[in-house]
Formats: sequence, structure tokens, C-alpha cells
Amino acid sequence: MARLAFLGMGVMGAPMAGHLQAAGHQVTVFNRTRAKAEAWVARHGGSCAATPREAASGADLVMACVGNDDDLRSVCLGPDGAFAGMAPGAVFVDHTTVSAAVTRELAQAAQVVGIGYVDAPVSGGQAGAENGQLSVMCGGTQVDFDSAAPVIDAYARICRRMGNVGAGQITKMCNQIAIAGLVQALSESLAFAKKSGLEVEQVVEVISQGAAGSWQMVNRHKTMDQGQFEHGFAVDWMRKDLAICLAAADEVGASLPVTALVDQFYKDVQRMGGGRWDTSSLIARLD
Ligand SMILES: NC(=O)c1ccc[n+]([C@@H]2O[C@H](COP(=O)([O-])OP(=O)(O)OC[C@H]3O[C@@H](n4cnc5c(N)ncnc54)[C@H](OP(=O)(O)O)[C@@H]3O)[C@@H](O)[C@H]2O)c1
Repeated sequence: MARLAFLGMGVMGAPMAGHLQAAGHQVTVFNRTRAKAEAWVARHGGSCAATPREAASGADLVMACVGNDDDLRSVCLGPDGAFAGMAPGAVFVDHTTVSAAVTRELAQAAQVVGIGYVDAPVSGGQAGAENGQLSVMCGGTQVDFDSAAPVIDAYARICRRMGNVGAGQITKMCNQIAIAGLVQALSESLAFAKKSGLEVEQVVEVISQGAAGSWQMVNRHKTMDQGQFEHGFAVDWMRKDLAICLAAADEVGASLPVTALVDQFYKDVQRMGGGRWDTSSLIARLD
């Protein structure tokens, strides 16, 4: 069993840290809004710290799942940051979805002070975090990955090393690119069914068992039909992710025309007040 720190008690981080504590690890959590960290301790045990540095002190592995590039920098760097508290040989594992650029920057800063770094973004949403069934895509050295993977297993359905630092984030971009166009196509299909006078439920029962079937279709059609968008992965986060994908595509000369278009559709959803709706809310702009 390991001594662990977990930074970020949000929709994803809190249940992930809960699985670590339940697996028997000794977990210290940090959250910017302290009340959430205290609520986590009251529910799961373990302890909470006042700063990332304090949480990370003495930990074998430090996990983080915060918001965006700047949020990650702020929990890693500076006198109260995790890197200042970690001992040489410890490994930092980042589950936040961030750019490959900040990943390279922080991995370099970690290397200077003798800390390992694994970028390990996740897919599977709030339900995947709560059920311990996330897909975890990792980048880092084999040695750092080997230290982190057995611990990550507490909340993973699959945890794979995709290559060196940054490869996990690139894999997560592939995931988001694949989802963006799919959710728009599903929204158009369901809105079309409704306007044509068909029952969405009946249409989905048939087409989900054919070539058009998808996880999104099976798990989201009901709430999309009812205009309920409370599944956790916010439109604001999706726009952050798509901006990361579009910038990375420019760097490698890849073309993402549908991703760019769907990003603009998500901007419409934000304008409708849906920044914290989940990503299946693309259908709302078709009504
Ligand atoms: N939700 C999903 O389904 C999902 C799925 C896959 C990947 N992700 C990714 O996972 C990450 C977290 O998502 P989430 O849904 O868990 O978000 P969330 O519920 O908004 O939680 C974000 C957490 O980060 C903390 N935080 C934000 N900025 C910070 C800062 N500057 N310093 C310290 N702490 C800070 C927040 O603290 P406070 O409590 O103080 O605000 C909160 O604990 C994002 O990168 C997201 O894209 C999410």
C-alpha cells in the first residue's frame, strides 16, 4: 500500500480518490475550496491538507485532477505547489485534461527536481469515476508508469502507456475529436426523428443494435430527448478540450474541420446559458 496525495476534489477527483482510500492506501487530499476536502475526509477517511505542498509531502505518488493548464500549474509550481513538497523519486500523475505543451513544461520542471511525471487523462465521465471504470491513457517513462499503474488500477477499466510524456494527452485529444462529431450526428438524428413524428425511444431501440449504435446513443438518448443535461462533463470543459485539439492539430498539420465546426456549436450552447450542461446538450440548439 502506498502513501498518496490527491489534488482536486471535483466531479472526477473526489470519487477517484475515494477508490484509492477504499483500496487501502493512505490518502491525503487537497482542494482549493477546503470544505470539499473536509467533506471527502468525513465520507472516506484519510486526511486533508492546507496546500498542495503539504498534501504531497512524503507521498510516493501525487495525483491531480483539476481544471485547465493554469490550474494545473498553480497546484504544481511555486512555494506551496506539490513539486516543492515531493521527495526525489516520487511520481506526479496528472489526470487533468490539459495541453501537450503544459505537460512538457511541467514534466521538465519535475525532472529538474528528480520527480517522475506521468500524464494520465481519463475518459468515462462521472459514472466511470464513481464506478472505478475509467479508461486511463498515459504518457511517461516505463519506470514511472510501472510505479503508477498498479495504484491507478483502483479506478481503471483499462490503463495503458501510450508513449513518452505527452502521449496520454494526445490520446485524450483523439478521444475528444471522435466524440465531438458523434454527439452532433446523434443530436441531428434524434431531432430529425422527433420532427418526423417518430418515437425517439423506438428509433433508438432499433438503430442502436445496428451499425449506428454507440455508447452515446445507448446512454444519452433518453436524457437528450427530455432536454436534461446533468451528466457531469461540462460544455465549458469540452470547449477547453477542443481548443487544445485544434491547436495540436495545427502543430502537426492535421485537419479537423468537423471538430472546428462542433466547437462553434458548443459556443452557441454556452450563449444559451449551457456552459455547465453536459456535452449531449448539442441537441438543445436544434429545438
Ligand atoms: N467531468 C467529466 O466527466 C470529465 C471526464 C473526463 C475528463 N475530465 C477532465 O477532468 C478535469 C476535472 O473535471 P471535473 O469535472 O472533475 O471538474 P470540476 O468538478 O469543476 O472540478 C475541478 C476541481 O479542480 C479544482 N481547481 C480548479 N482550479 C483550481 C486551481 N487554480 N487551483 C486549485 N484547484 C483548482 C476545483 O477546486 P474548487 O472546488 O475550489 O473549485 C475542483 O476541485 C478537467 O480537466 C476535465 O476536462 C472531466
